[in-house]
Amino acid sequence: MAASNLTSFQGQVVLVTGAASGIGKAAAELIAAREGTVVCLDLNEAGLKTTVAEITAAGGKASYKTLDVSSQSGVKKVIAEILAEHGQIHALANSAGISGPTGKPVEEVDWAAFQKTIEINLFGTVWLTQELMPSMKANKYGRIVHLASIAGKEGNPGMSAYNSSKAGVIGFVKGVAKECATFGVTINAVAPAVIRTPINETVAPEIQAYMVSKIPVGRLGEPNEVAEIIAFAASKACSFTTGFTFDVSGGRATY
Ligand SMILES: NC(=O)c1ccc[n+]([C@@H]2O[C@H](COP(=O)([O-])OP(=O)(O)OC[C@H]3O[C@@H](n4cnc5c(N)ncnc54)[C@H](O)[C@@H]3O)[C@@H](O)[C@H]2O)c1
Repeated sequence: MAASNLTSFQGQVVLVTGAASGIGKAAAELIAAREGTVVCLDLNEAGLKTTVAEITAAGGKASYKTLDVSSQSGVKKVIAEILAEHGQIHALANSAGISGPTGKPVEEVDWAAFQKTIEINLFGTVWLTQELMPSMKANKYGRIVHLASIAGKEGNPGMSAYNSSKAGVIGFVKGVAKECATFGVTINAVAPAVIRTPINETVAPEIQAYMVSKIPVGRLGEPNEVAEIIAFAASKACSFTTGFTFDVSGGRATY
């Protein structure tokens, strides 16, 4: 029997947001290694250049565009450009995100910082999905993967904005999955626990210690461990799982 190639991205165009760093960078590299043509998106142009150079040096296909996912007009413009350039977008791995205010009780959180966290982590998720859905439905194929977090399932103290944004992502994919289920489009979320990436440099040390203490495996996760789940959910292989939130939490969440 021939081996399955359902996890290959050969002939596919895959967008990866947050591709300049951490989980998004690891996902972009893995998807390119599986023969996808990767379009890397992020605010951080220097990081994007590095990601693209590393993928290209390894023999993969990648390009980049700068994007602020908290700008609805920016999202519209970039998705339209990519569709015009590539004809079809097969998958999105949306890993752009910020931790927002940490180590503060809700009554002390600055509203502008709260709002910015929601705009990037949740509104960006919604706007990217809105811009991709029409062409994916018309093509009768699409895979959308949004980064949620264990914080959206269980809540971390002192991170009310982040918790709210990620719980929003989990709820968002559940309902949208049912809207596009008969169009060959799946939409899922991934919920990591603490992963060794730069995002945690801005998280208060006592919150980090709390989060690691909750992980039965007893360590931080690595970006490539999350990228493996993202790559599955973004591939043809993920054809009968939609509206789900994949766990990558070292045993913290068993639901
Ligand atoms: N690392 C963890 O412990 C962890 C745990 C659970 C969930 N997550 C989620 O995984 C995703 C990736 O996080 P990471 O750990 O790789 O962090 P990271 O900081 O290494 O990477 C995040 C990337 O998003 C980009 N970004 C931030 N704001 C943006 C914006 N407005 N527009 C476009 N790009 C923007 C940054 O420039 C950066 O390159 C995030 O959504 C995060 O919330 C991370």
